[in-house]
Amino acid sequence: MKSHPFQLSSMAEYRAACQSADENPASFWAEVADSFQWIQPWESVVESDFEAAHFAWFKGAKLNITINALDRHARIQPQALALAWEPNDPNEQGRRFSYAELLQHVERTAGMLRRLGIKKGDTVGIYLPMVPELVFSVLACARIGAIHSVVFGGFSAQALASRLNDASCRLLITADEALRGAKKIALKNIADEALLASPSVERVLVFARTGAKVSMKPGRDLDWAESWSHANNPALGHAETMDAEDPLFILYTSGSTGKPKGVVHTTAGYMVWTAYTFVNVFQYKPGELHFCTADIGWITGHSYIVYGPLLAGASTLMFEGLPNWPDSNRWWQLIEKYKANIFYTAPTALRSLMADNKEGPMEFAMNSLRVLGSVGEPINAEAWHWFKDKVGKGRCALTDTWWQTETGGIMIAALAGMGSELPTYAGLPLPGIVPVLMDANGNRQPAGEAEGNLCLEKPWPGMARTVYGDHERLRQTYFSIHPGYYFTGDGCLRSKEGMYRITGRVDDVLNVSGHRLGTAELENAINAHSCVSESAVVGYPHSIKGQGICAFVVADFGNRPVFERNKEVLDLVGKIIGPIARPDLLVFVPGLPKTRSGKIMRRILRKIAEEQSDSMGDISTLLEPDLVPILQTAFLNEKKGGD
Ligand code: WTA
Repeated sequence: MKSHPFQLSSMAEYRAACQSADENPASFWAEVADSFQWIQPWESVVESDFEAAHFAWFKGAKLNITINALDRHARIQPQALALAWEPNDPNEQGRRFSYAELLQHVERTAGMLRRLGIKKGDTVGIYLPMVPELVFSVLACARIGAIHSVVFGGFSAQALASRLNDASCRLLITADEALRGAKKIALKNIADEALLASPSVERVLVFARTGAKVSMKPGRDLDWAESWSHANNPALGHAETMDAEDPLFILYTSGSTGKPKGVVHTTAGYMVWTAYTFVNVFQYKPGELHFCTADIGWITGHSYIVYGPLLAGASTLMFEGLPNWPDSNRWWQLIEKYKANIFYTAPTALRSLMADNKEGPMEFAMNSLRVLGSVGEPINAEAWHWFKDKVGKGRCALTDTWWQTETGGIMIAALAGMGSELPTYAGLPLPGIVPVLMDANGNRQPAGEAEGNLCLEKPWPGMARTVYGDHERLRQTYFSIHPGYYFTGDGCLRSKEGMYRITGRVDDVLNVSGHRLGTAELENAINAHSCVSESAVVGYPHSIKGQGICAFVVADFGNRPVFERNKEVLDLVGKIIGPIARPDLLVFVPGLPKTRSGKIMRRILRKIAEEQSDSMGDISTLLEPDLVPILQTAFLNEKKGGD
């Protein structure tokens, strides 16, 4: 049975959908969009101008995404489970919300925001742990037309401040503390530090997660529970009428240059794309429970914990804790406890669980599981097989899903259980998605087996519309490198059968444990140390994280001890960006390889870090070719020492 009119349930239907999305995108997407609830229909389905980087979908339409994610289902299936929450500590009670209850909570949160004077078009920063209040806050913003900007709880005060400032947030929603395994993180303290440098923030709403005593600034800070108790006027929870192209949220992501970009997604296209991809890629069946292990601070959590599943009327599980605390069976226990049907996670976590337990979770039958999904980074063959055979017991479909913050939702993936599964290959493009591979000279590769930089030729509803406050940056980053195409920044292989395998970033972006980090951002943080004169950051193969961060640093610490020098640099990066950005290897070197014109030759550093010095290429153009063996030795020594 189809769960939605637009569900594709065979390869033949998939191929027919691809053909009609290709031949007549407007009527294809209009038909998909017809199954949503609109306040007013659209005037045009799609406007697209690659040169100006201008795109619009369902222009003229009016809607509210939360009516589609909540009210619709609360009317038809009020008692169905919408959101289940599992706390960090297995001994603490979880929380469950039916569609009727989730709607009530979101309405009340919307009322709280309205009472604080937050209105359509305002930006709201959200810096919360993985608690239901995070989902209420996100959806309450969407309900009243405020633009949410969720900042991952692992980012530092400085990183939070720069995001709050860039988006001019008027309100920040945070918590006293976050729980991560046995650790507590003092979120409110970090937020307080950030707020010293965030003048746009007028009010701070503080959710008491642990009940720790935190300082509350009179006139600025408000307790969530207290505001909640006052927000009992149901009229304040109504859904604002939004234009299709009104911004829904901003999410910051790292690029190859400068500071992180505020990627903006708009209402109607994002709604259609996340619902369409959720229902089709995971082949969602009515009543199923979806367990996505991402954090809502990243796009995967936005699209496949919150919006996609709720738009489809599914039950979504959010988990506050870690896969390996109190022990490394936690996820398997949750799959059994909640009878999860779909399990969507990242290769990094699989590799680390696999390293602890090659045989897999034998004592957990996990009979409810039907579909496994992978996201965020290339999945190596070993992790793919472990996932399929040991977690899925060989009886679940496995879909490797390629996409990006900028794409809003899944772009290339197998439709679960359909067509062939090829380990390490993400599979086939979703209907409407036309991948093109470019060779080193920017020429389009002919169809069939090929390798090149992955570009996309056609617009799709979920594509990012702008970079907040800097549209030119969107145009330059994605639409100017290969004119007429969207450039993804990824390298890619295409098999004879037309399946795609993503090989990793071809720009200066690292993917560390599935987290995106820009090398320029990392170098700026390292260079902020007064003893450092310059640095260059490259990735290197890491058995668990996929890529590790290696920083070559030129510095003068006098005769201070090595451990002190390392600690200072690592702590500084942690302070400026966050703990996820701390380099794995710091290699102190006398100089960096440069061309005669003074440009750092990253290619050489990458080869050194990948231990592929045979393919170093021509180094004769270097200012100091003699540096190369010195850097190689320094890298190998550091790596040996670090193991
Ligand atoms: C990488 C995460 C290989 C890729 C949804 C992309 C992948 C970047 C896959 C986006 C995959 C994501 N196979 N690589 N299945 N999924 N990537 O914005 O390099 O955090 O450009 O979005 O992750 O990371 P982002």
